[in-house]
Amino acid sequence: MTSNFNKRKDFLPYCLPDISELEIQEVVSTLKSGWLAKGPRTIEFEKRFAEYVGAKYAVGMNSCTAALHISLVAAGIGPGDEVITTPMTFAASANTIIHTGAKPVFADIDPKTGCIDPDEIEKKITSKTKAIVPVHYSGQACDLDRIYEIADRYNLFVSEDAAHAIYTKYKGRMIGNRPKGTVSFSFYATKNLATGEGGMLVTDDEEIANKARILVTHGMSKNAWNRYAKGGSWMYDIEEPGYKYNMFDLQAALGLIQLQRLEEMQKRREQIAEKYNEAFKNVDGIEIPIISEYTTTHAWHLYIIKIVPEKLNINRDQFIMELNERNVGTSVHFIPVHLMSAYRNRFGYKKGDFPNTEKWFENIISLPLYPSMSDDDVNYVIESVKDIVGCYRM
Ligand SMILES: Cc1ncc(COP(=O)(O)O)c(C=O)c1O
Repeated sequence: MTSNFNKRKDFLPYCLPDISELEIQEVVSTLKSGWLAKGPRTIEFEKRFAEYVGAKYAVGMNSCTAALHISLVAAGIGPGDEVITTPMTFAASANTIIHTGAKPVFADIDPKTGCIDPDEIEKKITSKTKAIVPVHYSGQACDLDRIYEIADRYNLFVSEDAAHAIYTKYKGRMIGNRPKGTVSFSFYATKNLATGEGGMLVTDDEEIANKARILVTHGMSKNAWNRYAKGGSWMYDIEEPGYKYNMFDLQAALGLIQLQRLEEMQKRREQIAEKYNEAFKNVDGIEIPIISEYTTTHAWHLYIIKIVPEKLNINRDQFIMELNERNVGTSVHFIPVHLMSAYRNRFGYKKGDFPNTEKWFENIISLPLYPSMSDDDVNYVIESVKDIVGCYRM
């Protein structure tokens, strides 16, 4: 169904990275420097990132997935253990639990925020539970005080998945600031700080940081920079059969500049989110994000609206098709992980296991939100959503 809506000619992508001349220049000078693998830029990016979030140690990785995996391995999680996470996340948060040999155990979400519900975590703890992987979903903070209080009481390790949460503040403190466990960030192409692929593990625990550093390059006692730079030695040992997970200097070149520009990019995200909030807050038929009081700064990685099925003659999938018809790209974050066939088949998870997550999934749409969107783009998304609601309101 279409009204007299004035449809734009070109498609507005759901997401685009924000790459300026500065990133391009830094990548070119890295290419000319003669050092492409992990080297001085990775080391510099790790240092600056640790300073930025306020952690003692940062270890650059080729993805957040790698950082999540290494966090659990370094904490000694393995076969026979159980690790609790949320089903409202990307598969990486749970797949990496399986990679250690442990079992992923899901805990349902808080139906207001979409983040894991600490009460549900506590219900899932058994004698095998060894760790919790809370996900700072969409750029909101999980309730860390409650999660760490539970973790302390049951002696559990906490590996925070902060793929969406660079810039997020919990009760005034940046995610990753003085972490008690580990915190993993993603620099995937769609993320607030993008290096194409990339990730960072931060921790204040020296032992975990040292283990992580060794595990990311096959468990080698020395990385290539230590071996091939002047004064380095060819000799090395394999201390553990590790992984090939390290960040490299071309990624770090992008990361250094993106970090420098993060504040400016975040300001634009905030402006767009505010514009959406203002435009949609009184639209009958959709709901805007509810932000917990302890999320004092939202990173606005995602802007998620929820449709109210009782008020519209259209479901979420049709709403997305209508947006697509109006040339607006969207996404859905996320298809619940417990409903994926690998999880159903291996662990027997089924529909109905996590009602809050499933209900959330049925109604959510992620709208375009990225710094390079123009005001016209933002207004166009607003008008498109309002037009669809107008066409299909009961
Ligand atoms: C919540 C969450 N965790 C982890 C990841 C994995 O990040 P990466 O692609 O850097 O491995 C993603 C990626 O989209 C994510 O959304």
